[in-house]
Amino acid sequence: MKGLKIILAFLVLQMVSVLITECRQPVLHRVGGGRFTWKPNVNFTKWAIHEQFYVGDWLYFGFNKQLYTVLQVNETCYDNCIDKDFIKNITKGGRDVVNLTEAKPYYFISGRGHCFEGMKVAIFVQDSPPFPLTNGSLPSTITNGSLPITIGSASNCPGKLILLVMFASSLAWMVLFQHI
Ligand SMILES: *[C@@H]1O[C@H](CO)[C@@H](O)[C@H](O)[C@H]1NC(C)=O
Ligand SMILES: *[C@@H]1O[C@H](CO)[C@@H](O)[C@H](O)[C@H]1NC(C)=O
Ligand SMILES: *[C@@H]1O[C@H](CO)[C@@H](O)[C@H](O)[C@H]1NC(C)=O
Ligand SMILES: *[C@@H]1O[C@H](CO)[C@@H](O)[C@H](O)[C@H]1NC(C)=O
Ligand SMILES: *[C@@H]1O[C@H](CO)[C@@H](O)[C@H](O)[C@H]1NC(C)=O
Repeated sequence: MKGLKIILAFLVLQMVSVLITECRQPVLHRVGGGRFTWKPNVNFTKWAIHEQFYVGDWLYFGFNKQLYTVLQVNETCYDNCIDKDFIKNITKGGRDVVNLTEAKPYYFISGRGHCFEGMKVAIFVQDSPPFPLTNGSLPSTITNGSLPITIGSASNCPGKLILLVMFASSLAWMVLFQHI
């Protein structure tokens, strides 16, 4: 009985975590932290440490386009501030957005020498949010198998979230306070 309760409690937690994962909305990351912070002498490494980048998110560069540019480059050019032979010139109006479509590192620098003043940023994009509950000493039927419920696509997430939270909490209530 106790084992069953633990498994049920785990299932509830797992469902909630799946939902939170599935229902995560894409995030717009403002490079440097502000609306106009693609500029020299901002520590973009320090900024990026505190962000989590996932496929589907966006990067926003706000800057003075008279002075700066945004070039997507490879790692070598990023390391050495080489602004020739870039992969893509992102620069348009100075409020430019990049779609992070792949789980890979993206490297951006400013041209016109400003990379040497610190205008460079490396973005490591992950596939999907980590599953907080899949590791650990949990029953292998649960961790290996797929979940016994189908979440479907991430559409209509708020509705699903409410439904599943209701379901999960009633299940949790049964598990914790009733004899099943
Ligand atoms: C930027 O911040 C990182 C992480 O805090 C630090 O390691 C690095 O030395 C800083 N760079 C500069 C140029 O201050
Ligand atoms: C990065 O790009 C530069 C310029 O196009 C090229 O010379 C270099 O070989 C590239 N490095 C890698 C590791 O792809
Ligand atoms: C990138 O595009 C911007 C805007 O079109 C332009 O001003 C800039 O010169 C371009 N940079 C390079 C290195 O081609
Ligand atoms: C980026 O994604 C948005 C929607 O998510 C789309 O409207 C836009 O065209 C995309 N931009 C590029 C450059 O792919
Ligand atoms: C989960 O475990 C696998 C293999 O045991 C490991 O590679 C992975 O990093 C772990 N993930 C987390 C979030 O701890």
